[in-house]
Amino acid sequence: MKQIGVGILGFGTVGAGVADGLLRNRETFAKRLGVDVALRKIADLDIVRDRGVAVPEGVLTTDAMAVIADPEVQIIVELIGGTGVAKQFILEAIAAGKNVVTANKKLLAESGREIFEAAAKAGVDIYFGAAVGGGIPIIRSLREGLAGNEIGSMKGILNGTCNYILTRMIREGAAFDEVLKDAQRLGYAEADPGLDIDGWDTAHKASILASLAYSIPVDPHGIEVKGIRNLSSVDVAYAGKLGYSVKLLAQIDRVGNEVAVGVHPTLVHNRHLLSAVNGVFNAVMVHGDLSDDLMFYGKGAGRAPTASTVVGDIGDIARNLAGGGARYKSAIRYDNEGTLSVMKPGDVTSKFYIRLMVVDQCGALGRFGTIFGNCNVSIEQASSHEFLPGREEAGVIPVVVRTHEAKTSDVEAAIKEIEAAGIVRGTPVVLRLIK
Ligand code: HSE
Repeated sequence: MKQIGVGILGFGTVGAGVADGLLRNRETFAKRLGVDVALRKIADLDIVRDRGVAVPEGVLTTDAMAVIADPEVQIIVELIGGTGVAKQFILEAIAAGKNVVTANKKLLAESGREIFEAAAKAGVDIYFGAAVGGGIPIIRSLREGLAGNEIGSMKGILNGTCNYILTRMIREGAAFDEVLKDAQRLGYAEADPGLDIDGWDTAHKASILASLAYSIPVDPHGIEVKGIRNLSSVDVAYAGKLGYSVKLLAQIDRVGNEVAVGVHPTLVHNRHLLSAVNGVFNAVMVHGDLSDDLMFYGKGAGRAPTASTVVGDIGDIARNLAGGGARYKSAIRYDNEGTLSVMKPGDVTSKFYIRLMVVDQCGALGRFGTIFGNCNVSIEQASSHEFLPGREEAGVIPVVVRTHEAKTSDVEAAIKEIEAAGIVRGTPVVLRLIK
């Protein structure tokens, strides 16, 4: 049986999971692939700390460049993360003619074009299944099973840390900071957890999904990204009373020649399948013109689920190399650049949930209703439940408005005008809503 050598760069949570998977399931894997995948090297600055994996002698090294140069290594697995040395090592590996597997969503979202073009030029493969959805094979499904579809929309819960935090806040009323610490301990959170809770990790993943589905570059800094750092427990609890769960949602919609992409804390109706996605689980709903609605569900972070997808990618490359099969089939292409573009954030439409502290004076409710109307924002329902805090404050009435589908820029204009008219106190809370 042919043998293909693997070198891992980065022996952290996922690196250890991949090493464990390759060593533990080597025989089964070889039988399924028809090629023996041998873990030859693992590079990390720290090769002393116990990761709970019995690595054979001689495999661990601190010299990443030596792993890349090793003639017995054909596949380099980058699991360092970040955009510094990870990028350098990936480009070095490509230049050395090595095939690459990475789970680095930030790097691909920010420098994907450079990396994919380098891989194309060198005629090597770059697989990145674990960059989105952890253990969910969503990238592979878009690239292969759904390749014959025009994708109409995708909605995703793509960050395990945020979903884990939100779920525990809803179920236990747990404190944000405490739950974040648990997510870090469990290996879900990024080294910089700001990437998780401020929505950027979700934005990186949304950018990769949209680029893959529509063959256009999607700059995460060109879309609206809101995280959960400032989400109030009042809105989480009131959403519950209205029959909704709050999720950090990535929404991607094809509208004519534009693609709307955004990341927002969103009230998801409890009848919607995505409302049932809790804890570290991620889910992606995809609508294809042939497939109709599909839902992909699984653990979106953590050592073993992420390793499952990385090992699957290694298997694909190994099979290709051993069989002399098609090469360079994995990268994102930007063929529709120029014909399709990313929609301006202000033009994106949605239903909205808006909580305002309306000044209790004659005609105030009527005035803010008129301003919404003048700005093309149609109110579906307005309520002032006794549960809402602020009632004790003299002279204000807390009001929650739910709108029909409205343009983001129209809602922003209405809020600005309402604030300028002096009929609300404080800054209104604006969230998205889906049914
Ligand atoms: N920090 C990420 C998450 C890891 O919480 O989903 C998986 O990409």
